[in-house]
Amino acid sequence: MDAVTANDLRDYLAAQAVKPQLRFITCGSVDDGKSTLIGRLLYEAKRIFDDQLQALESESRKYGTQGERIDFALLVDGLQSEREQGITIDVAYRFFDTDKRKFIVADTPGHEQYTRNMATGASTADLAVILVDARKGVLTQTRRHSRIVALMGIRQVILAVNKMDLAGFDAGVFSDIVNEYEAFASGLGIDSVRAIPLSALDGDNVVTRSGRTPWYAGGSLLETLETVPLATGDRTRAFRMPVQWVNRPNLDFRGFCGRVAAGTVMAGQQVRILPSGTTTTVREVITPSGEAAAEEGDSITLTLADEVDVSRGDVIAAAGDPPEAADQFEARILWMAEHPLVPGRPYLLKMHCKEATAVVTAIKHRVDVNSGAHLAARTLGLNEIAVANISLDRPVVFEPYAANRTLGGFILIDKLNFETVGAGMVDFALRRSSNIHWQALDVNKGARAALKHQKPRCVWFTGLSGAGKSTIANLLEKRLCADGRHTYILDGDNVRHGLNRDLGFTEADRVENIRRVAEVAKLMVDAGLIVLVSFISPFRAERRMARNLFAEGEFLEVFVHAPLEVCERRDTKGLYAKARRGDLKNFTGIDSDYEPPEAAEVTVNTAEMAVEECVAALMERLD
Ligand code: ADX
Repeated sequence: MDAVTANDLRDYLAAQAVKPQLRFITCGSVDDGKSTLIGRLLYEAKRIFDDQLQALESESRKYGTQGERIDFALLVDGLQSEREQGITIDVAYRFFDTDKRKFIVADTPGHEQYTRNMATGASTADLAVILVDARKGVLTQTRRHSRIVALMGIRQVILAVNKMDLAGFDAGVFSDIVNEYEAFASGLGIDSVRAIPLSALDGDNVVTRSGRTPWYAGGSLLETLETVPLATGDRTRAFRMPVQWVNRPNLDFRGFCGRVAAGTVMAGQQVRILPSGTTTTVREVITPSGEAAAEEGDSITLTLADEVDVSRGDVIAAAGDPPEAADQFEARILWMAEHPLVPGRPYLLKMHCKEATAVVTAIKHRVDVNSGAHLAARTLGLNEIAVANISLDRPVVFEPYAANRTLGGFILIDKLNFETVGAGMVDFALRRSSNIHWQALDVNKGARAALKHQKPRCVWFTGLSGAGKSTIANLLEKRLCADGRHTYILDGDNVRHGLNRDLGFTEADRVENIRRVAEVAKLMVDAGLIVLVSFISPFRAERRMARNLFAEGEFLEVFVHAPLEVCERRDTKGLYAKARRGDLKNFTGIDSDYEPPEAAEVTVNTAEMAVEECVAALMERLD
């Protein structure tokens, strides 16, 4: 089949064009008249159903702040409890359409504690309507909103200068605000700012142009929303589709299902499968509508001319202009969880249809959302944003977020409770994984172990300070050595004098402490040794990370258990007493958590068992 040209495809798709859609977000606070503005837009776009209107009229009498007039804010202010408090929370999506376009509006609250809500709403929007009060002008919150929407990839802003009625429809007031805002926005990567003077309450320049702003030559808000260029659906972009699943109902059919993330596709087109790099040709494009071609946003199934290897998370792309794969990125991360992001801790990363384990290797700086200032940070709290380096356990196909939100956006998930804890935007790859190879060595782990006549292992002791980890590890090593085994002990107190001298006892430092010692233990197991690791290692996430470094059966978690009262009574180092006096901070069991193992291979209770007994149990397990 002849190659299909981009022109063929454009003509084909244009011939069956449907009404285009604009997704936008509104940013502002109740005080700016945001809800009133959206309410009026919906109302005047004549898309409010009659029953909704009746309810609105009766509610306006109950809760409205506009006397006998309809309170448009009530149309959009979600839940009853919020109405009574007079604030809006969470993201609400509203739909309306005109003859020219369909619209989806994301409405989010403007306070700083709702940064994650605004970011969520902005992540799928093409444009932001940023409200300012004409009497107050550009405020700190205006800058914060603009920074968040720019971060989420929005390049077009409508600056809605509201309450012009209260500013006497003064052209000077309007132009001062616009000038100040434009100067600020240009530094954020916002390409286009369209400013509109309006009164949401009276309806000036919302749907129709107002006679009270003769000095303003532009269109109303609705006219502007109907005519701004659409960011998505650019048919000239190169084709990309992440594979969501492989559909194989029988041996004769193999379809690759997914949503087109950019560009267009039709039968006959040459494509490349990433990350493998194999090229082939599209045999058939199957769409729900029955069309034989598809474009950005369409959910489709592709069949390919050759039997090539394609699995979930791979990307099918234009053969001549494919994306890259990498396993280390610089990214911007917005933290969405109460519990802070800690560098070194493994999280589950989802990027388009691919999953990987991700670790933030360094927080380069935190960004103050209000001022834009770069601040030093070791961890990241709720609603905070940072530029960070992130490292994955496998390569993923990506594009910078600025070029493609689907291929450049990711979420981070807590591995223990599966909550979404962060959202990220890839800026660029730090290295291409294809450039870093494992050095193949002729003498390997098996050869080293055979020479020592043993099965290398990592025996990982965890438990409170004073539970008896070091005592047991010490005696176990003696027994193993007596048996002719080759061993080594990594002990928290000792390693903290050398390799980990720079680390303290904050959560972030403990995570790094364990990460380093786990990597060292892995090298020692590779050297053929039986390694005994004796660290409090209080957090499940890091113990799990350590376990995942080893092969099946190589890692043995030993919970050295003793009740806190017992450890405290022993207090061999006098540290519990110090901690109780308040002279020692972040002490495990006192003012820092210990998360006991849920499925340790061996548990020994030193309050009830003698050391010899514990060691005998371990020797048996190791044999
Ligand atoms: S871990 O939590 O990061 O795994 P690690 O095992 O390396 O801790 O170090 C624990 C040892 O450091 C304890 O046995 C104790 O002697 C000493 N130590 C000093 N300060 C603390 C503290 N705040 N919490 C726990 N142990 C401490």
